[in-house]
Amino acid sequence: MAFDFIDQHLATRKEQHLYRQRVLIEQQNARHLVHNGKQYLNFSSNDYLGLNHHPKINAALNEGAEKYGVCSSGSSLLTGFNYAHQYLENVICQWQNKDKCLLFNSGFSANFASLNAFAQPSAAIWLDKLSHASLLDGAFSQQAKVKRFLHNDYQQLNNLINTSSYRDHLIVSEGIFSMDGDGADINALAKVAQQHQAKLYIDDAHSIGITGNEGQGSSSVSNDIDIIMATFGKALATSGAFIACDNYTYEYLVNVSRHYIYSTAMSPAIAWATAKSIELVISESWRREKIAHLSQLLKQSLNTQITLLPTASSIHALVLGSEQLAMQSAETLKQYGIWLSAIRPPTVPKGSSRLRVTITSSHKEQDIKYLAECVNKVIGKNDR
Ligand SMILES: Cc1ncc(COP(=O)(O)O)c(C=O)c1O
Repeated sequence: MAFDFIDQHLATRKEQHLYRQRVLIEQQNARHLVHNGKQYLNFSSNDYLGLNHHPKINAALNEGAEKYGVCSSGSSLLTGFNYAHQYLENVICQWQNKDKCLLFNSGFSANFASLNAFAQPSAAIWLDKLSHASLLDGAFSQQAKVKRFLHNDYQQLNNLINTSSYRDHLIVSEGIFSMDGDGADINALAKVAQQHQAKLYIDDAHSIGITGNEGQGSSSVSNDIDIIMATFGKALATSGAFIACDNYTYEYLVNVSRHYIYSTAMSPAIAWATAKSIELVISESWRREKIAHLSQLLKQSLNTQITLLPTASSIHALVLGSEQLAMQSAETLKQYGIWLSAIRPPTVPKGSSRLRVTITSSHKEQDIKYLAECVNKVIGKNDR
C-alpha cells in the first residue's frame, strides 16, 4: 500500500515507548499550568525568568503593533525590515558586544540557516556530541565534513582538527546544554579555535538571560566567540532568535542565507516587545539569583541516591535510564500535581531517558521542597 511506511513508523514508535503526542495546555505561567481543568506545578517551562505575561512586555507588544504593525509584510530584503527590527538589533549588538545582528523567526531556522551557509565543501564542522537537532540538520545539509566530538572533550576536538586536511574549521557548541543543563568551557573552546584559525559558533538558547551579570550569556565570558545564536522563546519570553556576529559574517548571511532571504521578517510588534524584555533581563538580576538559590535548595532536598547532573543553569536532569521508567515516573508525578517532562531518545542518547526539571524565578521555596518530597517518594527512598 502506498505510504504504508507511515503506519510502520508509528507502530514502531509506540512499541518502543517513543510515540509523541501534543498536549493541550489551557493556561500557563512559569509556576503553574492548567491541563484538563487541573492545575499543576509547572517544572517544564522554558520561561526561566518568569517574563511571560509581564505587563511591560505586553504593553510594548501593543505599542509595537500600533506603531510598526503585527506583520512585517515582507522579507527583510524587500520591505520587511523596519525601525522596530533595527532598534532591537542595536540593543542586541550592544548587549552582546558585537558589530552586527540578524533576526530570525526561530532559533531552529537561525541555526539551520547559519550552519547551512558555512557547510561549504572546503569546511569541516566540529560539533559537540550534544548539539541541538537544528545545528546538526544545518551542518549536514550541505557538503562540508561534519564530525561530532565527545561532549565537552576539547582535547579530542583539538586532536581531530590537528589531523584534518580541511581548510576552514567551524567549531560549534551550546553555551548551556539543553538536555543536561551543564555548560561548555567557552574560554577553552576559544583557545582551540584560535590555535586552528577556526570560527567559534555558540548556541546560547539556554544561557541567554541566565548567565552573565546582565544575562548576556556566553558573551559575558569571552569576546572571542565569532557567532552567537540565541532564541527569544525561552528566558526572553517572546519569539524568534538572533545571530550576533562581525560585519563580514553578517554580509555573507544576508546574501546567502535562504531562511533569511526567502522568509517574512519577524513580527515588528514582537521585535519591539523583545527589546523591552532585554531591558528587564539586564536590570532585574534578582531573577537569576533566585534560580541559583532554588536550584541549590533542590539539590539539598533530594535523597542522596538521587543524582542530578551538575549544572549552573535552570535545567536539572534526573537521569533514570529506560524510556518506560522515565514515562511512568512523569505520569506518577502528575498524580501529585507536578508537571515535568520525560525526555527520551532521539532527543537524548538511548539508555539515558530522564526527567528534565526546569526551575524558574517564579517558583517559590515551598514548590521546590514539595517537588523534592514527591521525587524522593516516586524515585528513591527518603533517607535524609
Ligand atoms: C539548544 C537549542 N537551540 C535551538 C533551539 C530552537 O529554538 P526555537 O525554539 O526558537 O526554534 C532550541 C529549542 O527549542 C534549543 O534548545
